[in-house]
Amino acid sequence: MTYIGQPVKRVDGYDKVTGKAKYAAEFNVPGLTYGYVVSGTIAKGKITRIDSSRALAVPGVIQVFTHENRPHTAWFDINYKDLDAPPGSPFRPLHDAQIKYSGQPVALVVAETFEVARYAASLVVVEYNEEAHETSLEANLDEARDPKSGMADLLKPKPPKPRGHADKALAAAPVSVQTHHVHGPQHHNPMEMFGTTVVYDGEQKKGKPHFTIYDKTQGAPSSQLYVKQIFGFSSDQVRVISPYVGGGFGSGLRPQYQLFLAVMAAKELKRSVRVTLTRQQMFTFGHRPETVQDVALGASADGTITALKHRAVGATSQFEDYTEVVVNWSGMLYDVPDTTLEYQITPLDLYSPLDMRAPGGVTGDHAIETAMDALAYELKMDPVELRLKNYSEKDWTVGDKPYSSKELRECFRQGAERFGWENRNPEPRATKRGNVLVGWGMATGIWDANTLPARAEAVLTVNGKLRVSSATADIGTGTYTIMTQIAADTLGMPIDDVIFKLGDTDMPLAPFQGGSFTAATIGSAVKQVCTDLGKKLFKLAQKSKGSPFYDADYDEVRFADGHMRLKKDPSVTMPLIDMVALNGGRSVSETSTSIVNPLKTSNYSRHTHSAAFVEVEVDEDLGTVTVTRAVSAIAAGRILNPRTARSQIIGGMVWGISSALQEDSKMDHRYGRFMNHNLAEYHVPVNADIHDLDVIFVEEHDEIVNPLGVKGLGEIGLVAMPAAIANAVWHATGKRIYDLPITLDRVL
Ligand code: MOS
Repeated sequence: MTYIGQPVKRVDGYDKVTGKAKYAAEFNVPGLTYGYVVSGTIAKGKITRIDSSRALAVPGVIQVFTHENRPHTAWFDINYKDLDAPPGSPFRPLHDAQIKYSGQPVALVVAETFEVARYAASLVVVEYNEEAHETSLEANLDEARDPKSGMADLLKPKPPKPRGHADKALAAAPVSVQTHHVHGPQHHNPMEMFGTTVVYDGEQKKGKPHFTIYDKTQGAPSSQLYVKQIFGFSSDQVRVISPYVGGGFGSGLRPQYQLFLAVMAAKELKRSVRVTLTRQQMFTFGHRPETVQDVALGASADGTITALKHRAVGATSQFEDYTEVVVNWSGMLYDVPDTTLEYQITPLDLYSPLDMRAPGGVTGDHAIETAMDALAYELKMDPVELRLKNYSEKDWTVGDKPYSSKELRECFRQGAERFGWENRNPEPRATKRGNVLVGWGMATGIWDANTLPARAEAVLTVNGKLRVSSATADIGTGTYTIMTQIAADTLGMPIDDVIFKLGDTDMPLAPFQGGSFTAATIGSAVKQVCTDLGKKLFKLAQKSKGSPFYDADYDEVRFADGHMRLKKDPSVTMPLIDMVALNGGRSVSETSTSIVNPLKTSNYSRHTHSAAFVEVEVDEDLGTVTVTRAVSAIAAGRILNPRTARSQIIGGMVWGISSALQEDSKMDHRYGRFMNHNLAEYHVPVNADIHDLDVIFVEEHDEIVNPLGVKGLGEIGLVAMPAAIANAVWHATGKRIYDLPITLDRVL
């Protein structure tokens, strides 16, 4: 292999840094109109009066849509759920006078310019009949209940039934710890804000309107399906294009309300419409939910864990049962005979939470891995040793299945060595550097390694280039680059002769980008289709007059340097471009679906693992925590591109620092509203907060997960970091802070 495993530079890098790459709200067409959303100001109640007259009087305003005058759509009759919808009834913008959460869109002003729309939106008068609301999880923990089942359960399994008698085992354990954790909500804040440009293409086939939609999404096909279903359009009326996405982190897994509003307006006005949301409005759909967790661990004096309890309650909305996998990970990491894992949700007057990078995983991992650290101290055992002592060789939560691969031991070994862990003084508060305390902490991480079915097309073009496409997304992860590498290697072509395209519903169907499954999923589809195209090219060559491959079988040839060659005699060769001539001068194309054999994979538990080692400095006068250095050792199967892979893990580690120390959506419960809805008050790290981050990819061979042996990297880099940081803060200060984020008021 020439390219797989090499640090190939991003093939889309040039377009991105020169501004050639266009995002959803940057596609311009003549006659474009602009929609501006009016956001509601109460958390619960009814709109009693809405007056658009002053807005409509502004020159340039075309229409003001409200629940009173919005057109009827198919969606208002059917309960259509988008592909990432939890069980329940999705929020339908402008459906009626009911207010379900603060910031709910209550009107859309459409005007000839953005500025006019924005100004006119400020003139729309809305009056409400306010009702009492509940937005505090901690005040409503007694409302916690089991979530309803739904499609989401496929990728988000419920906790396994309790096994053994955890309470009894805990009472009998000579050493035990109990921890309680509260995590505040977080909001996705990708650089690119949500926006949709709907191009009204006029009436086309049989007088039906056609729309070309540029949408910010992690999956063009899911946006297309959504628009089709809720407006009653057929596939040939809606094309969704999304070639570049300026960050997602899960916020683009569901079609957001600006898409609905933009299409509604374009259909009604027969005009092209763009609706963009403001940074403030980005805090009005979906967030990582607030959670409350309790962990209890019991162990014998030698460090064998004999009892494990992990309970989590997450917040959801009143209209959907959003769930995440929070507690199952504890069972996977530690195979304890007496274990109880529980997960419940509490509905509140908020928008439904939404998957955010390592949803549930980073939450639950922080709880179990800080409890493990406390247990290690009680046992006077090294935290790594305690984990090795209780290392799980199989996953009982899915019925005692072995792991398809698990090089976590190697993560501990290599990570500890790189970090210098053996020099750790186990005593807390023992190390000072000038006037600051220094602490070291570590934690284990775990995440899913799924591979979904997907389609891709490969074309050998008339000029001898390879063009591969699939309707997937690249939210900054490096999909363009790694798919180009896989295609180039599979058909033995120079990488400059290969182009990979994505983000267009005219391309073969693919799942949205998420769950760390894209490299494995689309990678498998690309490998499959290029292999199939190779077979087609072989047949063309074999059937040609006087073919040197006349006698050969397909498995006797290989593709390299833009040629097909006989393996046993490489001088017998044919350039791929000649096969275009053999095809009558036409391009040669193939479309394939890749499906990983479920009989092979379902007997195994498939996961990535990590070990994070962190050093912090804590200034007790100021209450500040600085992560001075961190090492993440990652076991994630084959690494396709160490450059983009490292970027993925570094990004996750930065988010881990953010999660542990800074990020928190602050709710003012009097108004039921998130108050710090801007990047000045919603704190995320800046360059000055980030110091020495080191990434190790341990070797891990996995022939089970998929033919490429790829497990995915989008989320695992984040998972272990908050716990490792919290453990380091304890080691520095001797103070256990179990809530996140660890802000200075908690340190002091
Ligand atoms: Mo990810 S939270 O599945 O985009």
